[in-house]
Amino acid sequence: MSQLKSVKQLDVRGKRVLVRVDYNVPLDNGTVTDDTRLTASLPTLHYLREQKARIILISHLGRPKGKPDPKYSLAPVARRLGMLLKTPVEFVSDCIGPGVETAVKNLKEGNLVLLENLRYYPHEEKNDVQFAKDLAKNADFFVQDAFGAVHRAHASTAQLPALLPSAAGFLLSKELEFLGKVRGNPAKPFVALVGGAKVSDKISVLEKLLDKVDTLAIGGAMAYTFLLAQKIPVGKSLVETDKLDMARSLIDKAKTKGISLLLPRDHMIVKDVKDEASATYTEDPSIPGDWLGVDIGPNSIQHLAGPIQSAKTLFWNGPMGIFEIERYSRGTMEVARMAAQAAQKGTTVVIGGGDSVAAVQSAGVADQITHISTGGGASLEFLEGKTLPGVAALPTI
Ligand code: 3PG
Repeated sequence: MSQLKSVKQLDVRGKRVLVRVDYNVPLDNGTVTDDTRLTASLPTLHYLREQKARIILISHLGRPKGKPDPKYSLAPVARRLGMLLKTPVEFVSDCIGPGVETAVKNLKEGNLVLLENLRYYPHEEKNDVQFAKDLAKNADFFVQDAFGAVHRAHASTAQLPALLPSAAGFLLSKELEFLGKVRGNPAKPFVALVGGAKVSDKISVLEKLLDKVDTLAIGGAMAYTFLLAQKIPVGKSLVETDKLDMARSLIDKAKTKGISLLLPRDHMIVKDVKDEASATYTEDPSIPGDWLGVDIGPNSIQHLAGPIQSAKTLFWNGPMGIFEIERYSRGTMEVARMAAQAAQKGTTVVIGGGDSVAAVQSAGVADQITHISTGGGASLEFLEGKTLPGVAALPTI
């Protein structure tokens, strides 16, 4: 892939710079509960402030379906960003129109405004060029730094680069560099750990990974479909019966290619997800009739240790169990700790997907990981080899 033009190659000194960020962050009662995506955007913002640019930030938040909904307002994000930057970030309660024009006119060098949710207008998701023109008209330059949103062909991702001199921000470039290492020529042995609830979300990425990896470990509820595909009983565990053939063909592909495909060897099981007290471990991969799996067991964790320790490249996406419930979180937390240890010893460890990111954070090891991707869907689509419309629209050098 040719290299994207970088924000460093734009002469932004004193200029109005429209920056597309992905501030689609979780909120609880008007408080940002995870600011990973905010902190990840800071390098670009610090740089633009040093250049005395006037910074106009745009983002989506949630899926408000093309109309204003206070639940999805970016106002709390402006407050939190201001705290992180130690400077006030003015919030404008629209993303186009006269209010924006006035705010930008009054914007001083090095200062920032954050505009209201782009998805309050249906035109954003409809990739509407007039909407993009309305966004562009108050700016001299456009910087794309919303890695988490570049897999969407929306006005703020696919249209804006054609309307203003544009470049990639530091976060977008860093994401493409590290995920590019995983997709391109990963140092070997390359180990991928893929978990989460649904096989259907990850089929294409699993297929692609099988062209690159030495070891593929599958955990989370996805693993039950793979086990059942091999006629191993999984009780009442979550299974996608329409994906059993697909699972079988992935197992066969791994065999043909000589790839080691690791499935859980034991599980934590319960009678009911709400009945935490019933939790116990199986002794082997099978799960009795009226039980369901909620996490991988101790043997499975131990079995993952070897491949993780010997990996030169490790990619992890998706939890090993229902880790939001502490009682069922051990497998995911242990994987997070083992991944961090590997990174400390020099393994390139790349983690993607909101849940795995939350897991490394709650295990307290996030700062030890080589690269934590801010993109869920975007990182998977990139690894699948798909063209990301928001990247394809940017100029290269
Ligand atoms: C994400 O959280 O993955 C991105 O912000 C994209 O959000 P979307 O799936 O609503 O487009």
